[in-house]
Amino acid sequence: MFVDTHAHLTDKAFKENLNQIIEKANDSMVKEIITSGFDLSSSVEAVELAGQYDNIYASIGFYPEYADDFSKEIEDKIEKLGGNQKVVAIGEIGLQYTDGMPSHERQKEVFLRQIKLAKRLNKPIIIHCRDAYGDMITLLKDNKEYLTSGTLHCYSGSYEIAVEAIKLGFYISVGGVSTFKNAQNVREMLKKVPLDRMILETDCPYLTPHPYRGQLNMPSFIPTIAQSLAQLKGVDIQTVADTTTINARRLFKI
Ligand code: NI
Repeated sequence: MFVDTHAHLTDKAFKENLNQIIEKANDSMVKEIITSGFDLSSSVEAVELAGQYDNIYASIGFYPEYADDFSKEIEDKIEKLGGNQKVVAIGEIGLQYTDGMPSHERQKEVFLRQIKLAKRLNKPIIIHCRDAYGDMITLLKDNKEYLTSGTLHCYSGSYEIAVEAIKLGFYISVGGVSTFKNAQNVREMLKKVPLDRMILETDCPYLTPHPYRGQLNMPSFIPTIAQSLAQLKGVDIQTVADTTTINARRLFKI
């Protein structure tokens, strides 16, 4: 079996046929799914959805893109929501240094506040990072006392930063990008990262794996990602399934 450790099942793209999507995942041996929030309302929705299905769990948090909207009130609400037993992680949280985003200082502040919140709740964190890997790893290293554990979601950075993160107790999440034709650098990095520090994710409805690009991404595509990783690592798909499932269970305590 597989675990899809990062999906956005509350996305409007799934609204019409969510039951079918979840059944299809089940038929594809994707037996557990963590659905992720990115602001307060999507986090509330993620927890509600997790409450409706035994095999769906929730991750809650505030995305760097919205860092300017974060407040003490929202922080308190997320913390309260974190008391729900289906909440298995704080995320996605992190840094995104692309154009038009909140200031780097503000993003770092909001990221750190949520790292501390995860520590209070004793939950792992799911990190979203784009064009900010240097600052991310520095922030994590400088705040070791607040770290629980976690994962670098849809990781596409360098092998060296992956190693630093693993030393801090993190896992590396492998998603559809690893199958893209133009992602040779990601595959080279993943070849070197040990499988026993990897977990799988779709990030659906985004980042559909090759050869299904153009279609809506969904959790049932996890075996496609696993097959590509198996080939990269020179192991069979069952080994990828078993190892990544054990890792996901250990990390998220599911
Ligand atoms: Ni995501």
